[in-house]
Amino acid sequence: MDHRLSNRLLRLAVIFALIGMGLGYWMGASRDFTAAPVHAHINLLGWVAMALYGLFYRILPQAAHGRLPQVHFWTALVGLLIFMPALAAELVGGPAWASFAHIGLIAGPTLTLLSMAVFAAIVFRATRPLTAAV
Ligand code: HEM
Repeated sequence: MDHRLSNRLLRLAVIFALIGMGLGYWMGASRDFTAAPVHAHINLLGWVAMALYGLFYRILPQAAHGRLPQVHFWTALVGLLIFMPALAAELVGGPAWASFAHIGLIAGPTLTLLSMAVFAAIVFRATRPLTAAV
C-alpha cells in the first residue's frame, strides 16, 4: 500500500502544529496578540486540515492514486505558504508590505480554496457507493 502522500501530509501537519503553537506561545508570553489570526490559520489550515487530509488518504489509500491528489497536495501547501506570510504582512508589516499583502491575500486563499474544491471532488469520488472500500 502506497502511503507516501499520507506520510507527507502528516509530517507537514506536525511541523505546522509546532510553528502555529510556537507562535501562540510567543503571543501569550509577549502579550502581543496582533498576529492571532496568523496563529489561528496556521493551526487550523496547517495542523488540523493537513492532518485530516493525511488521515483520509491513510484510511482510503486508493483515493491517493492519480494526478488529482497531487494537485490537492500542492495547492494546499503552496496556498498556505503564500497566505500566511501575506496575512502576517497585512497585520504587522506596515505600508511597505501592503502590495505583497494585497497580492498574497488573493493568491494564497485562491489556492487554498481550490485545494479544498479538489479535495471535495476526491472525497466524493472515493466515497461513491460502488467504489468506497469502507
Ligand atoms: C501551544 C498551543 C497554543 C497556544 C500557546 C495558543 C495561544 C493562543 C493565544 C495567546 C491566543 C490569543 C488570545 C487572544 O487574542 O486573546 C490564541 C488565539 C487563538 N488560537 Fe491558539 N494557542 C495554541 C493552540 C491552538 C490550536 C491548536 C488552535 C486550533 C487548532 C488554536 C486556535 C486559535 C484561535 C482560532 C484563536 C483566535 C484567533 C483570533 O482571535 O484571531 N490555538 N491562541
